[in-house]
Amino acid sequence: MDTQALINSLKKEQIKLADTKILNLFEQDPHRVDNFRCTAAGLTLDYSKNRLDQSALESLINLAEQRDITQRIKELFTGHTVNPTEDRAALHSLLRTPQGSCPTELQDEHQQIIETLDRMSSIVASVHNEQWRGFTGKAIKSVVNLGIGGSDLGPAMVAKALTPSHNEKLQCYFVSNVDSAHLQQTLSHCHPESTLFTLSSKSFTTVETLTNARGARSWLNQAGCSEDDIARHFITVSANIEKAVEFGISADNILPMWDWVGGRFSLWSAIGLPIALATNMDCFKELLAGAHDMDRHFEQSPPKDNMPVILGLLGYWYSNFWQTRSQAILPYDHCLQLFPAFLQQLEMESNGKSCQINGEPVQETTCPVIWGSEGTNGQHSFHQLLHQGTQIIPADFIVALKSHYDQEQHRLLFANCLAQSRALMIGKNEDEVITELTAAGKTEEQINALTPHKVMPGNRPSNTITMDHLTPKTLGALIALYEHKVFVQSVLWQINAFDQWGVELGKQLCETIAPTLSDTSIERNFDPSSEQLIRSYHQRNGS
Ligand code: F6P
Repeated sequence: MDTQALINSLKKEQIKLADTKILNLFEQDPHRVDNFRCTAAGLTLDYSKNRLDQSALESLINLAEQRDITQRIKELFTGHTVNPTEDRAALHSLLRTPQGSCPTELQDEHQQIIETLDRMSSIVASVHNEQWRGFTGKAIKSVVNLGIGGSDLGPAMVAKALTPSHNEKLQCYFVSNVDSAHLQQTLSHCHPESTLFTLSSKSFTTVETLTNARGARSWLNQAGCSEDDIARHFITVSANIEKAVEFGISADNILPMWDWVGGRFSLWSAIGLPIALATNMDCFKELLAGAHDMDRHFEQSPPKDNMPVILGLLGYWYSNFWQTRSQAILPYDHCLQLFPAFLQQLEMESNGKSCQINGEPVQETTCPVIWGSEGTNGQHSFHQLLHQGTQIIPADFIVALKSHYDQEQHRLLFANCLAQSRALMIGKNEDEVITELTAAGKTEEQINALTPHKVMPGNRPSNTITMDHLTPKTLGALIALYEHKVFVQSVLWQINAFDQWGVELGKQLCETIAPTLSDTSIERNFDPSSEQLIRSYHQRNGS
């Protein structure tokens, strides 16, 4: 079957399933729970609560095969130029490849990774055993990461997720925003003598990060730290060593990054240093090991048993055949609070594209809006829309079987997670509402008035990803799962997941606007709305 024939057959599958209840699919296939479940790298994906049957799944898998998914995965892992607009490979998986398992053609890159891991280990050891001292000889008590996007979201999310493994002697903070409130409020918790900044910027040209770095340096200077001693307070991770040295960072304190690692895929590199400082190097290596387990699964499993392929296909199915426009990420784990924000960059910066890799316009609907927050908090805010809103929003529930904290409270958390996915699926029909209202003693008039408000359509799809515990290893596998899901979808949509030209225009325009806010003599010719806003700024700031 050619691609168009497959797409047509998928459209037919959708029409057939549009009138089918997920609950009926369980009746039709007594083994559905097993048939729609996949296990890998310590994670289990239950995708049985979806509007999908065996024949639709097979058609989706055929489509993935037709788009050459197996070959494309191979290319990803072996360093092909999967990012042609920047003429780069995307070797984030190599960052977690253990010694001895690296493809021969990537030995040189791998050697640099191993050396960098060794340097990270020495830095972490020297901070943790208090050999690393600040300008007055005090040991380091606070680490502040200065970075944004991929140089912030990944490390911040993982550091928060691994809270149970934190080194209690050290406090780790993440400052990203160019709004000085972020830096100033963070520094109010720190002492200059005992604060180490990790300055994370692959390009070393990002305005937000460099502005915050200058703010941090002057905070140190004001506290009496001389320029000669600044090196004791700054470690930089960058692919642009020249610019970092120009900024005044000592070459000894610069850890490398490489063109072949994308920013949003970089937490496995030295960009993850704050994670290792917040926890320890063994923890960081476990994180890498978990991701590597998922890499092996992704590389070696046939599409039908391949967790990232299945997850990617499900997202593709809903965006393109059910016209869903957003995807909720619902971790039932307080430690995974930042996971939805991390995935927003990972998925939307990667696949928020309208142009195919060959330069032609995309014919399908690409990345949905990714959003969500941790359960059970979300239940008391936006879940209402998931249950009774006019749009269908597929949801990914993520939950561990065991807690690091109180198991009795975890029982409630777990029950809530299950209750939500079940409520989305079963809903509540009119008869059930009427029976309930009658039992509650309502009059006929009240019942007629209330019933339409209380009916819940149900049949709303979700996945549930479970793991034993949220450990560094299972976390690594979880992140790698979504990284690979993103890649799978880019193959289906035939787009480049590894560039991000869309973010450039805003940066360029900011460069033209910023000077006009401090210098009114600069001739401007912006649009009327922007002009009016600039005048308000000048009026308020007396310029
Ligand atoms: O603005 C987008 C972006 O380019 C992201 O892709 C990247 O993660 C972030 O900025 C930070 O870039 P850098 O690490 O080069 O400072």
